[in-house]
Amino acid sequence: QPKKPVAGGLVANYQGVWFYADLLQATLTFQKHFKAIDSDIILASMPKSGTTWLKALTFSIVNRNNHSVDDSPLLFSNPHYLVPFLEIYLYKDGNIPDIDSMPCPRILATHLPYQFLPSSILDCSNCRIIYLCRNPLDVFTSLLQFLLQNGLISSPSMSIDVPFEEFCQGIHPYGPFWDHYLGYWDASLKNPQKVLFLKYEDLKKDVNSSVKKIADFLGYPFSAEEQEAGLVEEIAMLCSFENLKNLDCNKEGEIHGAFRVKHSSFFRKAEVGDWVNVLTPSMANRLEKLFQEKLGESGLTLEIKS
Ligand code: A3P
Repeated sequence: QPKKPVAGGLVANYQGVWFYADLLQATLTFQKHFKAIDSDIILASMPKSGTTWLKALTFSIVNRNNHSVDDSPLLFSNPHYLVPFLEIYLYKDGNIPDIDSMPCPRILATHLPYQFLPSSILDCSNCRIIYLCRNPLDVFTSLLQFLLQNGLISSPSMSIDVPFEEFCQGIHPYGPFWDHYLGYWDASLKNPQKVLFLKYEDLKKDVNSSVKKIADFLGYPFSAEEQEAGLVEEIAMLCSFENLKNLDCNKEGEIHGAFRVKHSSFFRKAEVGDWVNVLTPSMANRLEKLFQEKLGESGLTLEIKS
């Protein structure tokens, strides 16, 4: 595939989707070799949609009988180790990992668009998918800052015109973003037992309800006693931005996927509407119009302000 440099790396277009060129091999190996089992939980998202948060919440909800919030592995490990990305870490460089030995339920993550998921995930009747979506103005803003923090783009004052133009054309990792959103949106409408579609902005508004929703969807509902004991709130607090950001395991160290990424760069501002500090009003207008046009009649709406 012809490769194209974009902010942060080289991408290649494969079947209408832009992938990090270095991860294409891993994607194909994952598609070919992954065997889903009924208890699998797949967390899917576009980069910078709040994936780290979803990983922490899902891990805590599902493992709440194994660990109290005081001895949670989240206190010692960055969430990306507890819930690894399939095509970024596990199947990296065409490696076939031994995931059969992972404790069940296996919680795994992916940035792949819905149509790229291995058929084994789609055909496995009980395996569940949770998709987290975020408004593209904040996704773009978060992505730029993430690349900057990891030294993948050079200057804070660099012009954002080129990356912005590329983003609007859908030329960015796993893009176009609108196809990514719509693939999972349609799947969640067609098969709500299998695909839960969440929005970052809703989680920010009321995380406790989202914790209960995730638990119900996965078949791990909170009992009345657990709710009375405040377990939902405890999990939400454990996974809160303020808590995770300040843990040593998230302040220090780095993880190696397509490139070296500082653990700390997954925790920046966590706001809805931070795009206002990065995009000009005309850029914001253009992107807002673009996604409204692309989401069209789908019924999917995204809030861009808190
Ligand atoms: P900002 O860059 O806007 O601050 P991802 O995990 O998909 O890479 O997304 C990263 C974004 O999620 C960053 O957004 C980050 O600050 C935010 N985030 C990380 N942990 C969070 C948490 N516990 N609660 C809310 N947002 C969080």
